[in-house]
This record gives sequence, structure tokens and C-alpha cells, in this order.
Amino acid sequence: MSDPYIFDEKAKEYDKEFSHSYFGKIQRQNIHTFVSHQLQGKTDLDVLEINCGTGEDLLFLCKYGKVTATDVSPKMLHQAEAKLAKNEVEFTIWDLNKPPAFQKKFDLIFSNFGGLNCITPERLIELNKEFRNLLDPGGLMILTFMHSWSLMEFLYFFNKLMWKKAVRRLSKKAKYHDLDIYYYSAKEVKKIFADFHLEEKYATGSLLSGAYMNWLGKKLKITEKKTQWLFPFWGADHRVYVLKKR
Ligand SMILES: C[S@@+](CC[C@H](N)C(=O)[O-])C[C@H]1O[C@@H](n2cnc3c(N)ncnc32)[C@H](O)[C@@H]1O
Repeated sequence: MSDPYIFDEKAKEYDKEFSHSYFGKIQRQNIHTFVSHQLQGKTDLDVLEINCGTGEDLLFLCKYGKVTATDVSPKMLHQAEAKLAKNEVEFTIWDLNKPPAFQKKFDLIFSNFGGLNCITPERLIELNKEFRNLLDPGGLMILTFMHSWSLMEFLYFFNKLMWKKAVRRLSKKAKYHDLDIYYYSAKEVKKIFADFHLEEKYATGSLLSGAYMNWLGKKLKITEKKTQWLFPFWGADHRVYVLKKR
């Protein structure tokens, strides 16, 4: 198992490099729009956010109820805490490679932008049971994974003669610094979370798939709203899965 604490080192620059970049902002906005349709009318949920990072989703999630935010990286959690004015959210360290230690149950487990791609398929199968036990009957999970195939990313790196990077998602040998990264297809996610029913899926980042698209995206004001129909065929950067406890 590789060490996820690389995110401690990245905590300070994460928002600048990703959350507040053009492609990062658009992908997150698109996910929020999708999630707000899924959670329409709900205001008193007990929400567990896993791998919350710098907490960019916390204010959004607070609209739907009481939020407990977790991450393996103390420095990421520190950045997240600094964004909230009051004690609106409870923060706890949870390394997803270890079993959870919560006494309470939740209505919703939320994970955004690929924290779960840092987890091996074997551990995700164990998490399927652990997530199930953390949820009340009828509980939901909304999980965003980096997708197993991104056409734009492939074309970009292929064109730059960076063959290894071009096929990193398919090769199953990707790394973020020293950390192993696992890319998952919709079929794999469905199989892993066997105790859940896949209700909906959504894709974003088919055009705005990486930092290399920031300049063009900004110039052409690409928001992907009009290109949604391409997503199933093109292979987008991220996919969001809505899974309901069976
Ligand atoms: C790409 S960031 C996403 C952060 C945040 N969810 C967002 O939307 O910006 C991935 C996050 O996963 C966390 N992470 C990586 N491995 C983890 C693990 N084993 N347990 C818990 N969190 C982990 C990292 O610390 C990091 O904050």
C-alpha cells in the first residue's frame, strides 16, 4: 500500500492548482448541479463526506443537513476547517484503508474528485460492506471517480509523445508522485459496490479534462453544458455514481 500523505504536501497549493482553476471550477459546478437535482428537497440529512480535501464541497453539502467531513491528510483538513466561519461541520481523520470508527449512522456518503481512486480494488470491496453499515436504511452514496478512460487526456499526451502518460488510465500503473492510482470504469464501480443499486451516473470533464485545457476552456468559455451528449462516448475525466443501499 502506498502512502497517501503526499496530499499533506499538496494541501496548500491544491485549491490554486485544481479547485480554483478553470477546468476544476467548471467540473465542480457541473457536479453540484447534478447532485442538487439528486438531493432536491432534502434539508436534514446526516452527511458523511469522505476524502473531503480542502473542503470545497462543504458549504454546498451543508445546505442538505449536518456534515461530518473526513480525510486522511491533517493538512487538507486544516485547509477545510479554515474555510468555515462557525462550527458548522465536524472534522475527523479517516484513512479509508482502515475500518471506520463512527458510532452514528448517516443518510448520505459523499466523495468528490477521486479520493477513492487512491484505494485498491480489494480495499474498495471491503469498503462496500463498511459503507453499507454506516448508512441508515435507504441511504445513498454519491461517489465521484476518475474514469478509466479520458479521450482528451489521451490525445493531449499522445500528441506530446508522452506515451506512458497517454495510456496511464488503461495501463493500471498510474502514480501521483509515489501514490498508486487506480482508475475505475462504471462496470467496475457497479461490481465493487454490490450491496448498492446504481441509480444514476453522470460524467464531466470530457472537454475540460485537465489543466492543459484551462487556457482554451477560458478563451472559448467552454462549460460543457451543450456537449453533455458526447460524454457517454468520449470518456470523461470524472464520473459520478449515485448508489442506493439495497
Ligand atoms: C484529489 S483530492 C479530492 C479532494 C476533495 N474531495 C475535492 O473535491 O477537492 C483527493 C483527496 O483524497 C484524500 N485521500 C487520499 N487517500 C486517502 C485515504 N486513504 N483515506 C482518506 N482520504 C484519502 C487526499 O488526502 C485528498 O484530500
